Amino acid sequence: MSDLYELYQRRASVRKFKPEPLREGDLDKLLLAAQRAPTDATAQMYSLLRISNPALRKEISSHSGQNPHIETCAEFFLILADVYRLRRLLERRGGTFGRWPRTALHFAITDAVLAGSALATMAESLGYGIVWIGGVLNGIREIVRLCKLPQGVIPVAGLCVGVPDESPSPRPRLPRGLVVHENQYHDYSPEELEQAYTAMAPITRSGDWYRVLERYFAQGGTMEEREPAYQVLTARQGFEPDLPPELLEKLEEKEIEAGSLGQLIEAAFTGGFRSLQFHSKGYVWVEKEPEAYRGDGPPGEALAKALLQSPKERVIP
Ligand SMILES: Cc1cc2nc3c(=O)[nH]c(=O)nc-3n(C[C@H](O)[C@H](O)[C@H](O)COP(=O)(O)O)c2cc1C
Repeated sequence: MSDLYELYQRRASVRKFKPEPLREGDLDKLLLAAQRAPTDATAQMYSLLRISNPALRKEISSHSGQNPHIETCAEFFLILADVYRLRRLLERRGGTFGRWPRTALHFAITDAVLAGSALATMAESLGYGIVWIGGVLNGIREIVRLCKLPQGVIPVAGLCVGVPDESPSPRPRLPRGLVVHENQYHDYSPEELEQAYTAMAPITRSGDWYRVLERYFAQGGTMEEREPAYQVLTARQGFEPDLPPELLEKLEEKEIEAGSLGQLIEAAFTGGFRSLQFHSKGYVWVEKEPEAYRGDGPPGEALAKALLQSPKERVIP
């Protein structure tokens, strides 16, 4: 096993793999590393979904952008944030799962990344190549459906592991002073920001890292494209405080989709409702003259219930 310091000095993501399986016994080592990772309150709010079926890999790949290595690597895992098993464990002994959707998302993603990262580092220390696949977010809803992920579970990323068929040079990183703060967060001077661009320039052929950032993170970029589906999916999987996932599932049958209470209100107006009345006594009226529908409960739940009572053809214009 190689020295970790050296490993991190030379490591780089690998996207070309030899058509060879892992050596016997190594899969077990990877899974051991994942399971030995630290985990919040011993809860282990993650799962690893090993995709061994080539046809399923192909389908997942087709929903994951330009990532053919999903099909060519020896092992492909979906790294899942998962509070479903935790719910099952609590309910098994008569407990009731609490309402902490945002905190659940926070710690489940943390646990999932720690497990995936331990697995990846173990793989690299054994001489394999790895690459994380955030591209699974491009087709996150299709992947959730294909893999039958229950409420409480969302893909965080994919992870390819295999025998490398390339040895890419390590990619640059930001100057340490921009990433490591001491005692208080310091803001960045224009000069420091320019140093960042200079340091990262070799990452692109054009020598302009701004182009990469713009393509992914600026207005109209990839992240904005992913956002609506991710909002709807996380709500549907139970991570949105205002909207009960069971009601969202039923609303989908009426072709009403929302990832937040604000989006549900917009969907109602788009669907032709002229007014929504939220009452302090815990109910909502939605009105589309000459009819009106009532739902009870906290605002999001009440609105969803009211919309569910209206006939489908009246909701979708
Ligand atoms: C969360 C995450 C998602 C990523 N998604 C992809 C991806 O979809 N496809 C890909 O080829 N590489 C992906 N990568 C790999 C990054 O591009 C890579 O880590 C980065 O360019 C730095 O290069 P290095 O890992 O070789 O140092 C991802 C990495 C992370 C951590």
